[in-house]
Amino acid sequence: MKLPARVTLCEVGPRDGFQIEPAWIPTETKVEIVDRLSETGLPRIEVTSFVHPKVVPQMRDAETVMARIHRRPGTRYVALVPNDKGAGRAVDAGVDAIHTVVSASESHNLANVNMTVRESLAKLGAVLAVAGRARIPVGCAISTSFGCPFEGPVPVERLEWVVASLVDLGARAIGLADTTGMANPRQVTEVLERLMPRFPGVEWTLHTHDTRAMAIPNILAAMACGVTHFDSSIGGLGGCPFAPGASGNVCTEDLVHCLHAMGVETGVDLDRLLGVARRVEEVVGRTLPGQVMKAGPWTRRYPVPDAVAARLGSPPGGAGTVADRPD
Ligand code: COA
Ligand code: ZN
Repeated sequence: MKLPARVTLCEVGPRDGFQIEPAWIPTETKVEIVDRLSETGLPRIEVTSFVHPKVVPQMRDAETVMARIHRRPGTRYVALVPNDKGAGRAVDAGVDAIHTVVSASESHNLANVNMTVRESLAKLGAVLAVAGRARIPVGCAISTSFGCPFEGPVPVERLEWVVASLVDLGARAIGLADTTGMANPRQVTEVLERLMPRFPGVEWTLHTHDTRAMAIPNILAAMACGVTHFDSSIGGLGGCPFAPGASGNVCTEDLVHCLHAMGVETGVDLDRLLGVARRVEEVVGRTLPGQVMKAGPWTRRYPVPDAVAARLGSPPGGAGTVADRPD
């Protein structure tokens, strides 16, 4: 398999995850989770979003969360913004980087940010200008890159047009987001093989949702194409409030576990991550999709049953070793 030696993960649970939680998560709990995520060594954390507080009430404490988190050197603290108003708030709150969003499909963009795609692109030009003046990097995510829950398949020409528009505006980091888990690994490969050579110098991120259990296969396909930046969410939290059927992102600790098992470095401490995932389950009050926190890592071992131990322990040549007796 063609795998990179190392990948960069962006934890999006505090934003993509918490934004859809109906019950209010106290600000100090959000801060605690971000701080604990920082302690795992994650290089990037999407802490919150600067959006309309009536549209996404759970994110209405964005300024306070940003002000109270402890910043670990080596972690980039990022916020999602849909427009220049959000960008101004994010810069004032001291974010290290901004993530923006526009959809590849018209209907999802209208549902999500109440703008046509062209209107959003104009706003994102203003976001890039605000961020440029503040000298902070911007990552532009394209929702519904691989399919739209309203319109169905998104033609790759359409996606390419959105990417080209963002590049023309000055974007250098672009995220392809599979908002409702419609992508499959072959499609991911075909899209990346088309886009990557056409836009050299772009830093590509894949943002996956595990709605149909294709997230890790899609990430493997993207790694084989040379992508090294991935978004993921602690415990597998997540979902878009404006995309019916959306469910959680690829689970951070399951992805880290898979990458480490294959020898791909992340710089993240898996044991600490598992501790945070269990804490997040307490915070949201339900079992989360994460599998490794239930099964334990692949290195987990169980005690040998007594009857098996007795047979294993029997002297060679006596009653016979297990190897002698394949039945
Ligand atoms: N933060 C806070 N307030 C904002 C804002 C922002 N980023 N952007 C706009 N507003 C305010 C305006 O100041 C204006 O306030 P006023 O009525 O007091 O004058 C009001 O919202 C309406 O502005 P408008 O530009 O017409 O916004 P809108 O009502 O069309 O909403 C968005 C557009 C983008 C702000 C809104 O749809 C939104 O926040 N969407 C985010 C969706 C999201 O987070 N999805 C999940 C992540 S992918
Ligand atoms: Zn998402």
